[in-house]
Amino acid sequence: MVADASDDSRRWLVTGGNGQVGRALRETPLPAGVELYMPGREVLDLADLPNMDRLLVDENICAIINCAAYTAVDKAESEADLAHIINAKAAETLASAAAKATIPIVHVSTDYVFDGLVLERAYVENDPVDPQNIYGHSKLAGERAVLESGARAIILRTAWVVSPFGNNFVKTMLRLGQERDALNVVGDQIGNPTSAHDIAATLLTMAARLEKDQTAPTGIFHFVNSGHANWYDLAARVFERASQHGFAIPELAKITTAEYPTPAKRPANSMLDTSKIREQYNMNIRPWQDAINEIVDRLCEEKGSAA
Ligand SMILES: NC(=O)c1ccc[n+]([C@@H]2O[C@H](COP(=O)([O-])OP(=O)(O)OC[C@H]3O[C@@H](n4cnc5c(N)ncnc54)[C@H](OP(=O)(O)O)[C@@H]3O)[C@@H](O)[C@H]2O)c1
Repeated sequence: MVADASDDSRRWLVTGGNGQVGRALRETPLPAGVELYMPGREVLDLADLPNMDRLLVDENICAIINCAAYTAVDKAESEADLAHIINAKAAETLASAAAKATIPIVHVSTDYVFDGLVLERAYVENDPVDPQNIYGHSKLAGERAVLESGARAIILRTAWVVSPFGNNFVKTMLRLGQERDALNVVGDQIGNPTSAHDIAATLLTMAARLEKDQTAPTGIFHFVNSGHANWYDLAARVFERASQHGFAIPELAKITTAEYPTPAKRPANSMLDTSKIREQYNMNIRPWQDAINEIVDRLCEEKGSAA
């Protein structure tokens, strides 16, 4: 339930409530007694934050989940200052306020902190970071600011986020698949497609544990759905599932990153190792294929019922 002000409930501030993860959070069962306070950017603009110390007191906030971010990876190459303000400066302000208020903060980050050049395995939390684009640099600065704030903090790094909401690869494929007979899809970047709903459930579990248990593990954690894919594999899975709903399947061709140049450089390997979160937070993580089926089914059913 996303509720209005109430005196006796535990209220958590969630930023980015209209993004993929934020919208998934709205649909995810909350821990007992928790209400989410999810102001939009008209109330809480991360580029121009109000006095957060006061807001946390006035709104009776017990924990913060920061899933707002400047996520336009290519556009960030020409808007470095704005990306830094939202992804680093605002994260610092939120975490400092959390530290002063002695409340925990869970901050969402990205695989793009890595260079992606380690090809043979998934990245672990303490692998060396080396972002390859402006977005990655801004997110890394945000991670460091949160960790240095003194707040009890978790950095949840995730990757390849997909959902029925907003802009993401699954939605783009389904749209393009209706418009074209053939699609070229990059086949030499590997990663872990990850459901925004699974991230949302993970964020709630971690925030609840941090709020209740002063000894709960803090620091950096990786969370992605299990298994890995390249973008071509992911597109093939999307269309295979969509075909069960009567969608036409375009012809897919595998191309290289070099054949699909973008302003921001992408890591060749984005795979994140989730051993730490599975061990320390007892997370059961489902395969990415299950998440994709769920999203495609929902999108196809919504499209079908709108037709
Ligand atoms: N998408 C991915 O593939 C991916 C991969 C790795 C990590 N992540 C991380 O996962 C987290 C969630 O990503 P997502 O995919 O849910 O992002 P998203 O769909 O792009 O949503 C971002 C949210 O941030 C909000 N926002 C941006 N600028 C703002 C500002 N100045 N003031 C207030 N709110 C602002 C947006 O508000 P509006 O709705 O008003 O625009 C939106 O609600 C982010 O930390 C992101 O870095 C994402």
